[in-house]
Amino acid sequence: MLGTAFLLLNGLVILLLLYTTRRRNKNEPPLDKGFIPWLGHVLEFLKDAGKFLSRMKDKHGDIFTVRVAGIYVTMLLDPNSFDGVLNDDTNSFDFSNRRGQLLKKIFNLQLPGNYPASERKWMEQHFHGVNQQKLKASMNAHLSNVMLKSFESRSPSEWREDGLFELCYSLLFRAGYLTLFERRDDVDAVYEEFRKFDDLLTKLARGSLKREEKRVVATSQDRLWDLLSPGHVNGSWQQSYVQFLQEMGVDADMQKKAQLLQLWNTQCNAGPAAFWVLGFLLTHPEAMEAVKSEIRGLPSLQDTSLQRRPLNQLESQSTPVFDSVLSETLRLTAAVMINREVVKDKILRMANGKEYHLRRGDRVCLFPFLSPQMDPQIHEEPQMFKYDRFLNEDKTVKKEFYKDEKKLKYFTMPWGAGKNICVGKEFAVTSIKQFVFLFLTHFDLELCSPSSKLPPVNPSRFGFGMLQPDGDLRVRFRLKTMQHEM
Ligand code: HEM
Repeated sequence: MLGTAFLLLNGLVILLLLYTTRRRNKNEPPLDKGFIPWLGHVLEFLKDAGKFLSRMKDKHGDIFTVRVAGIYVTMLLDPNSFDGVLNDDTNSFDFSNRRGQLLKKIFNLQLPGNYPASERKWMEQHFHGVNQQKLKASMNAHLSNVMLKSFESRSPSEWREDGLFELCYSLLFRAGYLTLFERRDDVDAVYEEFRKFDDLLTKLARGSLKREEKRVVATSQDRLWDLLSPGHVNGSWQQSYVQFLQEMGVDADMQKKAQLLQLWNTQCNAGPAAFWVLGFLLTHPEAMEAVKSEIRGLPSLQDTSLQRRPLNQLESQSTPVFDSVLSETLRLTAAVMINREVVKDKILRMANGKEYHLRRGDRVCLFPFLSPQMDPQIHEEPQMFKYDRFLNEDKTVKKEFYKDEKKLKYFTMPWGAGKNICVGKEFAVTSIKQFVFLFLTHFDLELCSPSSKLPPVNPSRFGFGMLQPDGDLRVRFRLKTMQHEM
């Protein structure tokens, strides 16, 4: 009797699996479901998405579908074919649904359906044109102040030791927060809580927090919602944002929660990016020398001091070596995933002429970190930091890269692309450049141990913008006695 029941149950499970299990149809991308029913590849994906997808790319090529926790995700890794998704004009892909789910999960936020497009317009008003110039000038002043302030209680020539990641993140965060939120009294507390929240954010998004971590996140969110509750600084970026939310009909509770979303959007990338730039320069002396030599030649450097808001005209000066260093750094360390839900069956035409059927209900995902950024067909020895990779022989900025003999529109994509491209790109580039130039012109900066290497990346951050290091790089620094002596 028991044996029959067992056989019946087994039969039912097999039937259920056969019924729910998907097979690859003729014109669909290669399908890799993994061995675990329903879960598929989720464990490998959560552990190190970069490594997992790289393995899948080696196995299947530029397009394939993987199963991750019951969801079928088609990875498109041929940059020559990206426009089929990014500039689709058939309304086959949707971003807002998934974005809404993430906002709820990470920030406890529910916003009106028309919010994303309106927010984008509002953001563009601030990060373009005259308003952006004001923000850049304010950021510039705050950067000088926070950098000087860190030496207030010491004799200026005294060496200070710190982790480079901690140093860059805290300085850029402080300057960025003061620029956009314009509140001085609570910046230390906000930074401290923000880092706790940011450290656990990827686990929060993936629903893999342990019980104690859930408590830490909840406490940080509560503290940050209070700390960020809209102030009354007339004309501040934050005040304008609150006004925008009110006009959108967002209630007071959601207005409060939206502040944390914007704090994260605007502050989570620049600090880590500055860390990688300085980290690569410190561990590649020939790159450091090339950047310093370029700085020495800048006319605006002849008469500046930290106290007198330096390098105001930096932006108008051509700095191709630094620009190449920044592009190369971001190529190696910016790892956004561009996800879309397939809302209508779609035939995707690849650059090589092949066509693939994408099924409604699946997802499609671009992961530019793997290709174009780490693609050996596009960038020779892609794991290596080559400071002049984005320089032509005549020292102009290099913009021509090829795959399969086709000139690429997308040869590196740290800022995303299409409708959701980073709205703060220009502001971010100026801030990072300003920060690095201030550091190199006004401080002696060196590795605590000359043989130190950059720490590896923290694999849990793949898909969330700038990568962060697993560990830190110890450095020492002091104010220069003779300014600009480099
Ligand atoms: C190296 C620094 C930065 C990098 C690599 C970066 C990258 C990105 C990327 C890839 C996205 C798109 C995210 C997606 O599609 O899911 C994005 C969005 C965004 N970024 Fe940046 N970002 C940086 C710095 C900044 C800064 C400094 C600001 C503003 C002060 C900023 C403001 C924003 C905003 C507001 C969005 C959301 C845009 C929208 O919702 O349409 N970013 N960023």
